[in-house]
Amino acid sequence: MPERAEIFEMGPRDGLQNEKRLIPTAEKIALVDLLSRAGFRRIEVTSFVSPKWVPQMADAAQVLAGITRAPGIRYAALTPNLQGYAAAKAARASEVAIFASASEGFSRANLNCSIAESLERFAPLAEAARADGLPLRGYVSVVTDCPFDGPTPPAQVARVAAALRDLGCYEVSLGDTIGQGTPATITAMLQAVLAELPPDRLAGHYHDTAGRALDNIEASLALGLRVFDAAVGGLGGCPYAPGAAGNVATEAVAARLAALGFDTGLDPVILEEAAQLARAMRAGASDHV
Ligand code: HMG
Ligand code: MG
Repeated sequence: MPERAEIFEMGPRDGLQNEKRLIPTAEKIALVDLLSRAGFRRIEVTSFVSPKWVPQMADAAQVLAGITRAPGIRYAALTPNLQGYAAAKAARASEVAIFASASEGFSRANLNCSIAESLERFAPLAEAARADGLPLRGYVSVVTDCPFDGPTPPAQVARVAAALRDLGCYEVSLGDTIGQGTPATITAMLQAVLAELPPDRLAGHYHDTAGRALDNIEASLALGLRVFDAAVGGLGGCPYAPGAAGNVATEAVAARLAALGFDTGLDPVILEEAAQLARAMRAGASDHV
């Protein structure tokens, strides 16, 4: 029996959040519904963030209301604060995610507060999720390199990952937000984080800006990680990380994992269809470069 590895699909959220064209809600719903047929167990559908900060995600509630939910799939949403959590819960998100930064510069740019303030802000949200029985996931951004503060010390990533664990996150996803990590820097970072959390509570979230995401996934597999975030069609980036274009493409990760002997449970035909749909959504942008 081949060993399992899981891809957590990010396309509808991390993939689309940076697109300049305001994508019609119906197109987002169609993408999620297609992804629901591909074999994913977890799909990040949207984010309940300030629409002034990320206008593309302003229709979060409508997207969650419009999708056809398949049994056994968790439909996740990013929630930066209690306001976002309340809206995600009302929209019946099946899990929520909080997102912190390993650097002060990126924390300020992405959340308009320090790392410590963000963790304080997440505490009541985590408490509410626990009381409501909603699974809580955590992200750490800029785990190897920050566009504002330079190289990120691995100990700093371990500290923030441990804080997210202590808040009750069942899994911590480690974001190479600007895709500048290398197998060496990813390995050094993971070695520090693994002193705090076992590999089965970690995920790799590697952007492919420099074309090294697949190598970084292989380095992570070697240290025991088996969950990777990716976006169909390689869409996306973070609006508050200059140069963060390009999540690693789900279909490329699925192919690499299969070549390495892992079973992702994904249907390559539907995956390719979803990748084409995702690329067409991007192509619809008049000012896309
Ligand atoms: P702020 O301006 O400091 O917030 O932003 P505030 O509390 O002062 O509120 C300002 C306004 O926003 C108010 O409205 C609030 O009601 C509203 P006004 O009175 O001015 O009309 N507001 C909200 N509206 C809707 N939903 C909410 C919400 N909260 C406040 N939840 C804030 C602070 C956290 C809100 C802001 O910085 C924000 O929304 N940041 C999110 C940025 C973001 O979405 N970034 C991309 C996702 S993270 C990512 O991509 C990285 C990841 O992929 C991993 C990786 O690659 O590293 C996860
Ligand atoms: Mg990301």
